[in-house]
Amino acid sequence: MNSLTKPPQIYVTQPLLPPLAEFMPYLERIWGNKILTNGGPFHKQLEQALCEYLGIKHISLFTNGTLALITALQVLRITGEVITTPYSFVATAHSLLWNGIKPVFVDIDPVTLNLDPAKIEAAITPQTTAIMPVHCYGNPCDVERIQNIADIYGLKVIYDAAHAFGVKSGDQSTLNHGDLSVLSFHATKVFNTFEGGAIVSQDAKTKQRVDHLKNFGFVDEVTVVAPGINGKMSEINAAFGMLQLQGIDLALQQRRAIDLRYRDGLARVPGISCLPLMENLQPNHAYFPIFVQNDFPLSRDALYLKLKNHDVYARRYFYPLITDFPMYRGLPSAAHENLPVARKISGQVICLPIYPGLAEEHVDFIVELIADERG
Ligand SMILES: Cc1ncc(COP(=O)(O)O)c(C=O)c1O
Repeated sequence: MNSLTKPPQIYVTQPLLPPLAEFMPYLERIWGNKILTNGGPFHKQLEQALCEYLGIKHISLFTNGTLALITALQVLRITGEVITTPYSFVATAHSLLWNGIKPVFVDIDPVTLNLDPAKIEAAITPQTTAIMPVHCYGNPCDVERIQNIADIYGLKVIYDAAHAFGVKSGDQSTLNHGDLSVLSFHATKVFNTFEGGAIVSQDAKTKQRVDHLKNFGFVDEVTVVAPGINGKMSEINAAFGMLQLQGIDLALQQRRAIDLRYRDGLARVPGISCLPLMENLQPNHAYFPIFVQNDFPLSRDALYLKLKNHDVYARRYFYPLITDFPMYRGLPSAAHENLPVARKISGQVICLPIYPGLAEEHVDFIVELIADERG
């Protein structure tokens, strides 16, 4: 029996929200200048502040990460087939279908859970134009090996970096790899602007093309150079982003403390494994996935339900696999035998609650619920 007091409902995440009063001066400025969108002052400030904070050169803010992914593919004129992972949020592959591109799914590495570079080459065909890997849970892909393959075959690389806000290897931002990286600032993410997203470009010319495409293709009042979309972030979201940045370091520290507490508590529970902390990595602790092995007394789903019955709403990210959804499952690359690692991991994973403000005793309560099964 769990000896710790039962907490109220605990969700997998809770959005980071500064005190409401602190947002009022930002709103007053917007009400004062009456600039609500179209690259206003907060939009400009947030782009600059994020470049400094993240250690990147060029960023373009978007209304959300999905539109940013769709636009990134347009920016680089990607067509034909794109190699991607089945172990992600469905928006990764949806962005390809929205561009009339055929996703080609490749299995993941059993340690990092990112696209397995050793399996990419076998999936390349004359129609392949790009690779779209995901830095899953914020753990960087093997960026060097992926770039090497892309260079040999003349492919573009677009990283879905929705989970990778603030992640660095050594002192280098993970966002400085590939041709483009896409961030999500959705409410559930480490850094949120309610809804929001961004494209990180490596040079000024590419950023300019992104900026045209996210604003209907307008270059000036009378010139439209491409069939662009409306992907612009509004001033309210950008202003909120400026406020959020002030609390981000503390939020990351709090996430780190929770991560370490889970690791410590679960280390003594046979049959439950965690992702190893990668060497030389400054992670963002966006998620805390655990993997329920065959020798654990409960199945993954039984443990998930047990947590739910105790008002702990963990999530099975990423289950089902993207390749299990009806619009993908008929593709040859979606075949079960093509994706054994992704399938196995998807059947084992539970993401435990992690967010700034999650109390230590609640982390301990969750650990005890799991450890209890071992008597
Ligand atoms: C890996 C991944 N890609 C894309 C997205 C889509 O981002 P958004 O919700 O901002 O559209 C998300 C999250 O929502 C995600 O987790």
